Amino acid sequence: MSHKRVHRRTVLQAMASTGFLLTLSPGFLLTGCDGGVRATELGTLDLDPEEYDVELNLYATPDSVPILPGTPSEVWRYRAELLKGPKNTVSEHPDSYLGPTIRLRRGQTVKIHIHNELPEDTTVHWHGLHVPSDVDGQPRLPIRPGETMTVGFEVLDRAGLFWYHSHAHGDQGGRVGFQSYAGLAGLLIIEDDEELGLRLPAGKNELLLVLQDRTFAGANELVYLDGGMVGMMERMRGFLGDRILVNGTPPTTRKIVARPYRIRVLNGSNARIYKLAWSDGRPVTVIGADGGLLKKPESKPYAVLAPAQRLDIWVDLSDSRPGSRLELISDSYEAGMMSGGMMNRGMMGGMGVRGNATLPDGGRFTLMTLEVTESNNITEPLPTELARARKKIPVTGSAPIRQFELSQAMMRGFAINGRRFAGTTVADGEKVRLGDTEIWEFRNNTPMPHPMHVHGLQFNVIGRDTGGHSRGWNGLSQGLVDSGWHDTVLVMPGETVQLAMTFERFDGLYIYHCHNMEHEDNGMMRYFQVQS
Ligand code: C2O
Ligand code: CU
Repeated sequence: MSHKRVHRRTVLQAMASTGFLLTLSPGFLLTGCDGGVRATELGTLDLDPEEYDVELNLYATPDSVPILPGTPSEVWRYRAELLKGPKNTVSEHPDSYLGPTIRLRRGQTVKIHIHNELPEDTTVHWHGLHVPSDVDGQPRLPIRPGETMTVGFEVLDRAGLFWYHSHAHGDQGGRVGFQSYAGLAGLLIIEDDEELGLRLPAGKNELLLVLQDRTFAGANELVYLDGGMVGMMERMRGFLGDRILVNGTPPTTRKIVARPYRIRVLNGSNARIYKLAWSDGRPVTVIGADGGLLKKPESKPYAVLAPAQRLDIWVDLSDSRPGSRLELISDSYEAGMMSGGMMNRGMMGGMGVRGNATLPDGGRFTLMTLEVTESNNITEPLPTELARARKKIPVTGSAPIRQFELSQAMMRGFAINGRRFAGTTVADGEKVRLGDTEIWEFRNNTPMPHPMHVHGLQFNVIGRDTGGHSRGWNGLSQGLVDSGWHDTVLVMPGETVQLAMTFERFDGLYIYHCHNMEHEDNGMMRYFQVQS
């Protein structure tokens, strides 16, 4: 089919002294394509088109959305259109740049037509989902501007909070940080009978929170990496915005009733680590992580949420009085030498850094205020057992240990076993066998934490060894949630973390990488191959 390449519009525009603004050309239309739009089909299910349970159009498109008071901001965002399936499959957030929340049921077959209306390549990755390699939204299968790619898969994962975001990689490096920052991310919820049977708080008693940080210039333009020295530092540390956005808006007060709530949180930030805590010091009751509910609720003084991770939290406000308030905060911690505050006030003090010093890594700030307006005092006990169906991965003494050293490549960012992203190249140590269970060991030999993500599966964290060198990062260890199922694990400086994982069902190429998006985009990402 003929396809005329639409030329690239300016995406980054230099601005004297403020760094780089995102200039996202909202006027971009698909008029550059004469004749047909090229369409690729990656449905790997042997189904007739009418046999899918759910079908939707998903558009990646420029838009302009009010975020702060005043001028609306230019963003790139997802929009969806449900063609087939239950009505609640797609819920839009009309006043936010976030993509619609997509709600699926385990066992459904799904077909999604992804339309790229952006001026550059993109992909859509279903973060955390166990799907075939070809529908995983990897950089090797870009959707060109003006093109449509159709993917089909069966929902195999158990209930949990997942998300979808761009995973594009260009000639100059990764575009994940830029595209996600511009707004290309959304929640994906999977439900199943086991979880529904627990009757956890639902509907308006289930709060969904996407945590992100952004920096804005004078007319509310989003500001991303600086071009100079500061930008280099930002790439090393990962981008930190000077404002927190929750679901695409500054933190708000929510009026609630006196009863239990389920709060499901995604860290959709490029690099920021949150230390979730309650303002009155009550413990945080964690009921789930990336891959769904834990076996049992866990009570922690605070809970750490690294980029791309999700946490499911239960809070009982049934004995609160009307008018009482409780804040969900990110509490302070020590963030090493590379924290925004240190960097801006100290090392980079004289270099015209913009406002990050106001919100350094490890700073304390409010994420959401809950205000009790009614006391109907609804009590609903939290089940003591949450999940039975999925048994932990059995790890025998003979399970091979595959080691990955996370290291610093001087002025070139970070590497994994000395290697940086090199397209679909797979080293010998990056080939695994379909059906095998292995232990993956990440050894962090750098002064920064790295949230390591493995595509296509959920793993168990089987051990951590802090090695006693925290390199200035302190105050997070009590809040790491290691039980249950995960697709992203935070590996602290100096630490070694072991994961158990099984390569089930699908062979082919997958990726593993640091989910600090600036690290990922700058080489801390590799392909691995599941061989049958
Ligand atoms: Cu959230 Cu490789 O991605
Ligand atoms: Cu990293």
